[in-house]
Amino acid sequence: MVISSDSSISQYLENFTFNKNINMDLFSYDNNSEISNNTTIINDINIGNQIYQKYINEYWTSKQRQSSSIHEISYRACFKAQLPRFFINLLTKENDIVYDPFSGRGTTVIEAGILGRKIISNDINPLSGILAYPRFFYPKLNEITERLDEIKINSEYESEMDLSMFFHSKTLGEIISIKNYLREKNENNEEDLIDKWIRMVATNRLTGHSKGFFSVYTLPPNQAVSRESQIKINIKRNQKPEYRDVRHLIRRKTKTLVRTLSENKISRLKEAGETCRFLVKDVRNTPEIENSSVQLIVTSPPFLNIVQYANDNWLRCWFNSIDVEEVASNITMSKTIENWEIVMGEAFKEFYRIIQKGGWVAFEVGEIKNGKIKLDERVIPLGVNAGFKCKGIVVNSQKFTKTSNIWGINNMKKGTNTNRIVLFVKE
Ligand SMILES: C[S@@+](CC[C@H](N)C(=O)[O-])C[C@H]1O[C@@H](n2cnc3c(N)ncnc32)[C@H](O)[C@@H]1O
Repeated sequence: MVISSDSSISQYLENFTFNKNINMDLFSYDNNSEISNNTTIINDINIGNQIYQKYINEYWTSKQRQSSSIHEISYRACFKAQLPRFFINLLTKENDIVYDPFSGRGTTVIEAGILGRKIISNDINPLSGILAYPRFFYPKLNEITERLDEIKINSEYESEMDLSMFFHSKTLGEIISIKNYLREKNENNEEDLIDKWIRMVATNRLTGHSKGFFSVYTLPPNQAVSRESQIKINIKRNQKPEYRDVRHLIRRKTKTLVRTLSENKISRLKEAGETCRFLVKDVRNTPEIENSSVQLIVTSPPFLNIVQYANDNWLRCWFNSIDVEEVASNITMSKTIENWEIVMGEAFKEFYRIIQKGGWVAFEVGEIKNGKIKLDERVIPLGVNAGFKCKGIVVNSQKFTKTSNIWGINNMKKGTNTNRIVLFVKE
C-alpha cells in the first residue's frame, strides 16, 4: 500500500492495526506470533497555535520476525530495520529514491535496497560508507575465502600504539596484516568489492564481548573503550587476550550476515547498489543531490551530544586509517538544544530543496533528559519553517527486547521502547 494523497495518512495511522496490515508487511510476518489489535491513541498538541496529532500505536512490532540478517552490523544509536521499512512501504513505490542524510550503519538504505528502491546515503563519518556500501554487493563466500588466503599474514607485526590490552600478539599481527593490505589496495585505487566486504566485516569484528570478536571481552563493538579502561576491565575480570583466528572469524561473520538473505534480496541489493550514491558530507550541504529528486527521507539525527561517535569509534578509525580527531570535529555535537535546532533547521532547508513535490520526511528523534526535552515537538517548527507541512508525530510503542538493551539503544523506559517520528510532506 502506498499513501499518495497526504490526507489519507492520518486515517491510515488512526485506523492502523497490525492485524489489518499483514499483507503490507507479509515477508516479515511471523506466523507463530500473536496479532496485536491495539488501537491508535491520538494526542493533540499545540505548537505555534497549530494543533498537531501524535499517533501512538505498535506500528511495527517486536513480535515480527527479526529483520534481514544483513542488517546485523552494530552502530551506536542505530534504529531497527522495521522503522524505515514501515515508511518505505507506506510512502514510496519501486524505483523511487530513498535518502538517509545521517545514514550510520545504513539501515534505511539497505532496507530500501531490499525493497527495490533506489538509494542515496550520506554521513559525515566515513565509517558509515565503509559499513554500508559493501553490503549491497555480497561476493560469494569462496571468493572471500580465496582473497583472505591471498593476504600475506605477518604475525609479528606490531601496532604504532600499544593494543595488547585488547588483542593477543598473534591476533594483532593478523589484524595489522589485513589493515596494511587494505590500505595499500586503497591507496593504489585497487580495492575491489571483495576487499571492501572484508574491510566491513573486520571493522565490525574488532572488539566485542564474545569469542566471535578479535578482542578479549570488552564493551559491544560499537563502543570501543579507551586503552586505560580496557586494562581496568582486564584486571577486574582477571582476563588476558587469547588468540583469535581473524580470517576464520571474518568468514564466520560473513555466513551469519547473509544467513537469511535470499537470492532475490541479493539481486535487489545489487541492483540498488549499481545506481546508489554514497556521500560523506555535512547534511546541510549536499549539492550532489539534485533538486526535487528524492521521494522519501527516513533518518535519525545525532541527539545533542549524547552519543560520542568519535570516541566510540576510535579503534574502527585506527583500522581504517581514518583520522578520528577530524571526524570528531565534523560531527554535529550540539551542547544545547538551541544549537541543535540551528543545525537541524538548516538541514531541513536542504531536505526541502531535494525532496520532490508529494515527497516525505520521516525524522526519528529520541527523548532527551528522561523526556524533559521533547525533541519531536521541537522538530515540528524546523520542518515547517523550511516549507514542509507537518502531518503529525508517529510514536511506535513496543515492549523492549534484550537485544536493544545490549546494543546500547538508550530510549527504553519502564519496559517500553518508543520511537518518535515526525512526519513531513512537501506539498
Ligand atoms: C543516530 S546516528 C544514525 C544511525 C542510523 N539511523 C542507523 O540506523 O545506523 C546519526 C548519524 O549522524 C551522523 N552525523 C552527525 N553529524 C552529522 C552532520 N552534520 N552531517 C551528516 N552526518 C552527521 C553521525 O556520524 C551518525 O552516524
